[in-house]
Amino acid sequence: MRVIGALLSLLLLGACGGGDEPARPTPPAPASTPPSAPAPEPPPAAPKEPASAPEGNLRGDAANGAALYALYCSSCHGKTGKGDGPVAAAFPTRPANHSDAAYMGKLSDAHIYQVIQKGGASVGKSPLMAPWGGVLSDPQLRDLVAYVRQLSGT
Ligand code: HEC
Repeated sequence: MRVIGALLSLLLLGACGGGDEPARPTPPAPASTPPSAPAPEPPPAAPKEPASAPEGNLRGDAANGAALYALYCSSCHGKTGKGDGPVAAAFPTRPANHSDAAYMGKLSDAHIYQVIQKGGASVGKSPLMAPWGGVLSDPQLRDLVAYVRQLSGT
């Protein structure tokens, strides 16, 4: 009992303060206590990368594809797709001959789409065939597939 009594009186003394104790600095608020903001929502699921073989009919508008081809592809593949464009003359790998039905007939639409979108290297072909997915939209890629098909009649 003695001990408890002593403790009690110490506490009481402490509570009274005695007056001569220097004011204690208030401790800084603990940094780890966040303001009462609600927990952040998890970010929405990232949009899925378009699959390498997109759904549906991959042959878009061939006429529009022809215009795109003249602009982006003919420098290497040639105006009529024979692989004789001026840029490719010095290439170690000749661009595919898009008018070669025997060769083009073996390629699926999905393969052609992927080659144009992700480049030759994505299908084990020459990286000189660059990926166009960053420049051309999905409908434009489909238009080009249609035009490449038209060149070879496949
Ligand atoms: C810088 C030159 C260059 C440009 C520009 C270019 N290509 Fe190619 N392309 C190539 C080369 C080289 C190959 C041959 C790759 C190989 O056989 O290894 C090729 C191959 C291809 C193939 C055949 C792939 C296969 O499996 O045989 C297709 C289809 C094709 N290109 C479409 C296009 C289209 C469509 C465009 C325009 C958007 C385009 N290319 C622009 C150089 C080019």
